[in-house]
Amino acid sequence: MNYVQADEAAYEKTGEIKLHGEEGFAGMRAAGRLAAQCLDMVSAHVAPGVTTKRLDDLIREFVLDSGALPATIGYRGYRHASCISLNHVICHGIPSDKALRGGDILNIDVTVIIDGWHGDTSRMFWAGEPKVKARRLVDTTYEAMMLGIEQVKPGATLRDIGRAIQTHAEGRGFSVVRDFCGHGVGRIFHDAPNVVHYAEYRDRFGIQRAPETELKPGMFFTIEPMINEGRPDVKLLKDGWTAVSRDRSLSAQFEHSIGVTETGVEIFTKSPKGLDRPPYAAG
Ligand code: MF3
Ligand code: CO
Ligand code: CO
Repeated sequence: MNYVQADEAAYEKTGEIKLHGEEGFAGMRAAGRLAAQCLDMVSAHVAPGVTTKRLDDLIREFVLDSGALPATIGYRGYRHASCISLNHVICHGIPSDKALRGGDILNIDVTVIIDGWHGDTSRMFWAGEPKVKARRLVDTTYEAMMLGIEQVKPGATLRDIGRAIQTHAEGRGFSVVRDFCGHGVGRIFHDAPNVVHYAEYRDRFGIQRAPETELKPGMFFTIEPMINEGRPDVKLLKDGWTAVSRDRSLSAQFEHSIGVTETGVEIFTKSPKGLDRPPYAAG
């Protein structure tokens, strides 16, 4: 694996993992905080009867009014300020006129750009009271993400992150989605490295293992596990975006943008209001 000083690298994806300095940390703190504030704002609006398009409108207006840009608008032809993924949708759900129903669980994923820096975060929400099993899936997914983040320090590896997540999710009888991963983040939305959420698994081609890439101070990436109630397999719908679980079982996801520090980890997208996981008081 190659590393490159971020301030000497062009603002493009090179395949090398960028190592950022104080300016990068300051930029990511500002972008991460706004992305988290945006989810804090939207948490008060998630309720039965509300459409996901309405939630996306609120997000777009909040981001633009804050002097930032929604990174997803115009990204590879995507047209919305957020991805909103309901129930069996794993990720990249498209906001629509469909209204939320009591018992729905949903992921809302926002990425904002401030001064060129990308703050990327998502949380689960629910409308009304979820079923016990849905709540258990959401709780397990949040815990898995945080256990992955706890692994982050210089000298640990990407595989350590995946192992912590996979062990927790599978220990609860759930499965880790393999077809989507976390990613380097910074001035580039999706940069090297890929951050998979497993240590290893066996498929018909053999054993697939996460790379043992060593973590170094100044690396920025997301950790964003998608955990399914049933099988891990993904199906992409005809709209070209919406990814659902093949067996239509429930799926959950949380995402933080983080930086590796000299001693451990800094989470850039923590909720300023402590609304990092449901239940949210106003929800
Ligand atoms: N925010 C998503 C991520 O976590 C990416 C969404 S790209 C979009 O990486 F085009 F689907 F919006
Ligand atoms: Co991401
Ligand atoms: Co995201």
